Amino acid sequence: MASTWNKSSWRSKPRVQMPDYTDPAALAAVEAQLTKYPPLVFAGEARRLTRALGEVAEGRAFLMQGGDCAESFGEFETDQIRDTFRVMLQMAIVLTFGAKMPVVKVGRMAGQFAKPRSAPTETQGDLELPSYRGDIINDIAFTPEARIPDPARMLQAYTQAAASLNLVRAFSHGGYADVNHVHGWTLGFVESEKAAAYADMANRIADALDFMQSAGVNKDTAHTLSSVDFYTSHEALLLEYEEALCRIDSTSGHPLAGSGHMIWIGDRTRQPDGAHVEFCRGVQNPIGLKCGPSISADDLKVLISKLNPDNIPGRLTLIARFGAGSVGEHLPRLIKAVEEEGAKVVWSCDPMHGNTIKSASGYKTRPFESVLREVQEFFAVHNAEGTYPGGVHFEMTGKDVTECTGGVRAVSDEDLSSRYHTACDPRLNASQSLELAFLVAEEIEKHRSAADATKRTA
Ligand code: PEP
Ligand code: CO
Repeated sequence: MASTWNKSSWRSKPRVQMPDYTDPAALAAVEAQLTKYPPLVFAGEARRLTRALGEVAEGRAFLMQGGDCAESFGEFETDQIRDTFRVMLQMAIVLTFGAKMPVVKVGRMAGQFAKPRSAPTETQGDLELPSYRGDIINDIAFTPEARIPDPARMLQAYTQAAASLNLVRAFSHGGYADVNHVHGWTLGFVESEKAAAYADMANRIADALDFMQSAGVNKDTAHTLSSVDFYTSHEALLLEYEEALCRIDSTSGHPLAGSGHMIWIGDRTRQPDGAHVEFCRGVQNPIGLKCGPSISADDLKVLISKLNPDNIPGRLTLIARFGAGSVGEHLPRLIKAVEEEGAKVVWSCDPMHGNTIKSASGYKTRPFESVLREVQEFFAVHNAEGTYPGGVHFEMTGKDVTECTGGVRAVSDEDLSSRYHTACDPRLNASQSLELAFLVAEEIEKHRSAADATKRTA
């Protein structure tokens, strides 16, 4: 099977959710140009992420994936990236403290531009136009011209992803992420109960660091604490772009998606014989697979064997997204399928995409309590099944937006209009994200004590 794969083999498979470009010559010119550009990520990095996720699959680390639903050209600015990066570091600290194990940090960032949509068209008044599909494909403005897919947008997306990645690499290794600055990451944070809890945790970490210093911390440890491994990810939806950035890794001879460290397959594009699965099965990057209520156990088994035939831990992350109240109905049957196959996977929880509702004020929103409830149900099912709840997947931003309702600094339905900036789905704001991190940390602690108790009675 693998022998028939090449970076273009997806083209002979049925495709969904992809644009029909009207000017094939313009498309071919963009593809040719991107093919000559440097890859954004490198094979050694993707392999390192696979190993890190392998630790998650084995229950020795925890995955935190988060960022924008859709990155946009218009919202692109340094502060946006810095703020999201900072909140992710804060969340990771909280989780590391709670989980007492390493946290693998993966941003929905530097490439998250293409969006699957529930309907091919959108109507406002009497006008029906093709849906907005993300800035890499068309423009969000509601005019006929704006909605025409334009291949040149791929070049702008590449440039923005390269610039974002450059900044994130600098933040990760240039001192910003030094854990000795754990206090500095609170700056810019609006006062809240969780900000105080974070400051308290930061004090305890600072004390521990002081102690380590006086005890004579060695150089290797100092390096570990002064930088962070931060990876990028996005949905591999626009396959012309993915193909054009696919490269052969000179060390292993294996293909690599050069567009981001981890790529995932959406809930709408996971047809076992479809184009998206075909592309992803052939590249060596860690792969995510969104699993919504409609996935059957049989399809999941086929997908596992196609995407991870060698059963490499860390290669495949199953991202469950059922909606609060529905996890108990779906997750156990999928866990059973995975266990029957003896498959090594990372189980992650996306509590966003099954919990989108329309608010009374007309905005697409997500109640914080539903998001939290889905996370709790995810942990409860894994605790009952004796499997490992390995990670979380959030749509979030470091900005103080009002897109999801609830949280300790409660955002109400009426507040939604004040700072609703997302180009697609509603995101948790900085305060809601940090609050959730504390609550997830509690769930991890509960899981640990439940697992320890089982071990003692076994
Ligand atoms: C997304 O992650 O933005 C998304 C569209 O998710 P899903 O494929 O799970 O609906
Ligand atoms: Co989304």
